Amino acid sequence: MATVVDVHFEHYRTLNALGVHETKPRLSWRYITAPPGWKQQGYEVELSEEREEHTLSSTIAHTSPRNILIPWAFDTGLQSRQRISIRVRAWGEDGVSTDWSEPARLEVGLLNRADWICQRITAPWARSAVGAEAEHLYRKTFPVSTPVARARLYITAQGLYEAEVNGRRIGDYFLAPGWTAYDGRLQYQTYDITSALSSGTNCLGVRVAEGWFCGRIGFEGGHRNIWGPHPALLAQLEITYSDADGRTETICTDASWMVTRGPIRLAEIYDGEKYDATLEVPSWSSAGADTTSSTTSTTTWEPAQVLAPLPESVKLTSGFSEPVRRTETVQPVKKITSPLGKTLVDFGQNLVGYVRLKRIRGPRGHKITLSHAEVLENGELGTRPLRLCKAIDEYVLKGAEEEQYEPRFTFHGFRYTQVDGWPGDDLDLLASTEAVVCHTDMKSAGSFDCSEPLLNKLYQNVRWSMRGNFLSVPTDCPQRDERLGWTGDLALFAPTAVLVYDCFNILKNWLIDVDHDQGVLGGVPPMVSPNATLPDPVWCRRVPCAIWHDVTILAPWNLYQETGDLSILAQQYGSMLEWMRVLPRNKTGATHLWDPSPFQLGDWLDPAAPPDQPWKSATDAKMVANMFLIQSLDIISEISALLGRAPEATHFRTEAASARAEFHAEYVTPNGRIVSDTQAAYALAISLNILQQQQHPAQFARAGARLAELVRKNNFRIGTGFAGTPFLCEALAATGHLQVAYAALLETGCPSWLYPVTMGATTVWERWDSMLPDGRINPGEMTSFNHYAFGAVAKFLYERVAGLKRLEPGWTRCRVAPAVGAEFTRAAATHVTPQGTVSCEWNTVPVDENGGGEDKTEVMRLRVSAPYGTTVEVVLPVLGEGERWETVVGPGTWSFESTFRRNYEWPVLPLKPKS
Ligand code: BGC
Repeated sequence: MATVVDVHFEHYRTLNALGVHETKPRLSWRYITAPPGWKQQGYEVELSEEREEHTLSSTIAHTSPRNILIPWAFDTGLQSRQRISIRVRAWGEDGVSTDWSEPARLEVGLLNRADWICQRITAPWARSAVGAEAEHLYRKTFPVSTPVARARLYITAQGLYEAEVNGRRIGDYFLAPGWTAYDGRLQYQTYDITSALSSGTNCLGVRVAEGWFCGRIGFEGGHRNIWGPHPALLAQLEITYSDADGRTETICTDASWMVTRGPIRLAEIYDGEKYDATLEVPSWSSAGADTTSSTTSTTTWEPAQVLAPLPESVKLTSGFSEPVRRTETVQPVKKITSPLGKTLVDFGQNLVGYVRLKRIRGPRGHKITLSHAEVLENGELGTRPLRLCKAIDEYVLKGAEEEQYEPRFTFHGFRYTQVDGWPGDDLDLLASTEAVVCHTDMKSAGSFDCSEPLLNKLYQNVRWSMRGNFLSVPTDCPQRDERLGWTGDLALFAPTAVLVYDCFNILKNWLIDVDHDQGVLGGVPPMVSPNATLPDPVWCRRVPCAIWHDVTILAPWNLYQETGDLSILAQQYGSMLEWMRVLPRNKTGATHLWDPSPFQLGDWLDPAAPPDQPWKSATDAKMVANMFLIQSLDIISEISALLGRAPEATHFRTEAASARAEFHAEYVTPNGRIVSDTQAAYALAISLNILQQQQHPAQFARAGARLAELVRKNNFRIGTGFAGTPFLCEALAATGHLQVAYAALLETGCPSWLYPVTMGATTVWERWDSMLPDGRINPGEMTSFNHYAFGAVAKFLYERVAGLKRLEPGWTRCRVAPAVGAEFTRAAATHVTPQGTVSCEWNTVPVDENGGGEDKTEVMRLRVSAPYGTTVEVVLPVLGEGERWETVVGPGTWSFESTFRRNYEWPVLPLKPKS
């Protein structure tokens, strides 16, 4: 019998969605143990609402085969604080019902501003503070009489916060409330603190630091106070007693709260954290401390200052993303003494987070300094790529028997830490340090593995770079004075991102801010969102820029493709239309193409561009801009049709046709050459459907042949930057040059995907040669060792090497077609689709067991597994006519075997100039 599992609301994966902003959440569930051929014919949904003493239930039944994103079926929507649970059971075409599922629970947050009765408070000295400030410690004591039925803490800060109740940390979020366009949205969090309260006097303590809100952030050194002059706190603790009448009490931030400076004397995203344990305030968040007078022995407590209410224009929202968490610890692998005599710890992995010091001891007032860097140069920390960012944490010991320290309000991108002031040789450095990995807690969406170890390492590096750069928002790099939500990077990486981690929620959340920032900029999308460049005279000039601003269309489109959820297209449709409206067009002649006057970043970081001028690509940047415009027009036309906007669909289809015709007249020869005779030009023209294979097969083929020639002439070294790289291999494969694609993929000379791997990279680099072959760091400014853009090739690994590819939105139909080539003998991929995990694994063995002899026939064994609700087209290489065999399978696990021959030359040879 089929079993209903994983009932969940919207895209929240947890069984307990707490404090969310959904009034009519859609429901999804999956099936396991469904017998072959079983199909859902209908379902029942039971809604239960827990009131204090009884449970109200109602059930609806529907005849429908749908089990993903079922619209809310009950009459009324949910209200603030409402708590419900849902169970599902279904029946199949055979009429047999499944059992009821496990319940999924949801509790609504505070939906309306009127629900917030607390006041916004700050420290009285905050307004006159100049420069970076110590953290604020806030406290409030209050009586509790038991028994408490339920206690919820709704809390946020303009800045960053961590809350404690009775001396104990609440929750496991890092850098809450997260980064949003603070002028438009401030996220709050909801914590269930029922079990943290006790009868008698309780204490709620909150530490607040500057964070993104008013700490230094932004491009070229950044700015302080972008969204406000100082941090502030909003907290509301609601206690419901188990009395017969369900009595409630609310503890709110107001002038009765006390505040003092905490031991974190500096907490900056870029520069790091300085913690002076001699300044700790004992029991600051416990009732035991002095709560009546304004001073403790060494600390001055002052009443908090009440600020004007948060402007109505700033939405208080729970947001949609998973929180940032500490997800893993990495132990050090080596202690190094550098040529200058410095002590370095190597964690063996370039990662994002911080270093935790454990079980340390030393004299009171002694300082340990931790400096961070991603690489070593001449055996010392390579800090030049950090630019205007110190990335230094400091800990001053209090002289206790055993101390422990971990920063709370900063993060670094690093593999190496220089430790200065380590207190004594008898303290084992490696046993006392560990790296803590932090990022938005997305769930893994898949895996890839093959017979080529260097490619497996590349794939793992892509995963690490995605984790490190999806920290509250999708960022460009985690180590230097940026860490910004650059829109272009995400636009290009989105098709791969959705295959590596489930990033629907974080991107849905971020796109709301992209839309907001776009509104602030008069319709032109931001270069970075949240728009930390706003105070900057160069970047706030509303400069329209292709690719970066096409994120408005490309990101929602890829989220829709991955999930089949049309609501993300509806959510962002206004933003898309607005971008297409304000995009400046040519005034005369090719009036459907870009106005050529705005500067374009184009194929940014083309390896041929000078290190200090990454925009000087060999590929015409204006032409690249026009290619992305045509792609955007094609996609928005499709989106309009999907959303039932027929007039817009027709309008954009016509626009795309005109733009394409003008593009051909301007840039393409009748035979398929392109005016920029470069790898990026052909890769984009082929992959973005600029050449339209159906209508112009000869041009398409010629462009592919020319691309293969260029790659072979270049000894299989990559000649593409940000824009061309995601498409290079696929364009070769799609035009019949798979082995050339594999030769480029497996190339290890610089520039190539595997060159960094052979240089020991553990993440994807921003530049092909962030580290030069002689071990020097690239002299260019843009030299991050943790950028996801070039990792976009992971999509090709899934789709061609392993052969697993989505065909329909939401994976209802996909294909397994291993693209046999090079010397691959095995590959495997899995992907977590809305319906469950789909996977494939293949290997090949010579028919002649010894692998020798004239007959090169091999056997391919392929195993495919598909969840309920999916259909898989399977394609295998075979001997004989057409050399391929196809079938279609449904849910289940399937094994196939075929004999085939590798009908290709390997290795592919480079093209040498004729002498
Ligand atoms: C970032 C890039 C970004 C670019 C655009 C860089 O500093 O790291 O990834 O897209 O600027 O100018």
